[in-house]
Amino acid sequence: MSEQQLFKVTIDNITIEVAPGTSILQAARSIGGDVAPPAMCFYSKLQGSGGKCRTCLVEVSKGSEKDPRPMPKLVASCRTTVMDGMEVKNITSPKVVDARAGVVEFLLLNHPLDCPICDQAGECHLQDLGYEHGKAGTRYEFQRRTFKKHDLGPYIQLHMTRCILCYRCVFTADQLTNSREHGVLSRGDHSEIATYIEKSLDNDFIGNVIDVCPVGALTDKTFRFKNRVWFTKPVDAHRDCPTCSGKAQLWMRGDEVFRVTARKDEWGEVKDTADGKPGWICNECRFEKKAANDWVIEGPSVINRHSVIAQGHYLGLKKPEETIVKVMSGQQPRFFMDIHDVSGVNKPNIELSLINGPATSDVFNETKKD
Ligand code: SF4
Ligand code: FES
Repeated sequence: MSEQQLFKVTIDNITIEVAPGTSILQAARSIGGDVAPPAMCFYSKLQGSGGKCRTCLVEVSKGSEKDPRPMPKLVASCRTTVMDGMEVKNITSPKVVDARAGVVEFLLLNHPLDCPICDQAGECHLQDLGYEHGKAGTRYEFQRRTFKKHDLGPYIQLHMTRCILCYRCVFTADQLTNSREHGVLSRGDHSEIATYIEKSLDNDFIGNVIDVCPVGALTDKTFRFKNRVWFTKPVDAHRDCPTCSGKAQLWMRGDEVFRVTARKDEWGEVKDTADGKPGWICNECRFEKKAANDWVIEGPSVINRHSVIAQGHYLGLKKPEETIVKVMSGQQPRFFMDIHDVSGVNKPNIELSLINGPATSDVFNETKKD
C-alpha cells in the first residue's frame, strides 16, 4: 500500500506537512504557540463544532500549489481544510489582527463585564481572548441583553446573560447523552440556550457541558462562589468508577476538594485517556465525590505558566534566598524607609504620622536661602 501523501502548508512562515483533510486550525495547533488561532466554538472532541464565533479567522495568502490565488476573504480556520502548498497568515497578518479585535468587540456586546464575581474568571477563554486580541474600549452604547438564571437540573446553573452561543454545550448534550434535551431556541438577539419545558438535564454525563463552556454561562452549583480558581491547587487524581474513566482533576485547598473537573489539555479541551478516547467524566465523580479519600491522588497537575492559576502553584517553586536581611545585619527591608530617621525634610523630633491636622511650616526644616 502506498504511503499517504501529505500536504505541505506554511503558517506564519513555518512549513509543516499534514494529512489531507486536516483543518488549518489543527495544522496550526501542531506547530503550537501563538501560531495557533484562538477558538471559542471549535472543540476537537465534538463532531460538527466550529464555524460559529469567527475568532479563528486567518488570511490565506496562497490557496494552493495548483491555484496560488489568495482567498478573497479571511476564512474560519477551524472549518477550512488545508491544500497542498497553501500559505496562511495568522498573527503575521494585520488584517487578521484587526478583524479579530472586531470579533472580540462583537462577542463582548452583550457579555457582562462581571469577571470579579464570575466563577470562570481565571480560566475564561473570553477573558484571555479580550486581553490578547481585544481593544481597550467598546463603541456599544445600548443596554446589554439580560436573561434570568436557570437551573438545568440539580447541579448546573445556566447564566444565559454570559453565553456567547458557541453551541459547544448543545453538541456535548447531543453526543454524550442519549436524549437531546437542550438546544438553542429563537433567533438573533433572542437566541438562548434552553431546555424544552424546563426539562432537567439529569443524564450521567451532562456535567461535561460545564467543562466545554468557554465562558461562565454554565457553572457547577456545588462550586459556585465557593472559591477563586487561583486560590485552589489542581491535582490529578483517579478513582475506580463504573461509569467513566474515573480520571479527573481535583481543585483543592488544603485537604478540602472544592471542585472536580475533567483533565484539560493545552487548548483547554478535555484530555484523551490512555485508550485514545476523550476523558469525559460522569456526574457522580464530578458532583458527589468531594472528599479527598474518595480519590487516589497522583500529584500536582501541570498548569500553563502564563495562567493565573499557576501563580499559586507549588510545583518546583524555589524562593530566592533573602539576602538583604543578611547584608544589613538583620535589619528588615521595610525599616529602610523609616523617614523619621533619614528625612531631611521634617524636623527630626517630629513624627509626621503623629501630628494633629495638616503639616505646617513648623514641621519642616527651614529652607536655606542663599
Ligand atoms: S452556554 Fe456556554 S457552551 Fe453553551 S452555547 Fe453558551 S457559551 Fe457555549
Ligand atoms: S473557532 Fe472557528 S469559528 Fe469559532
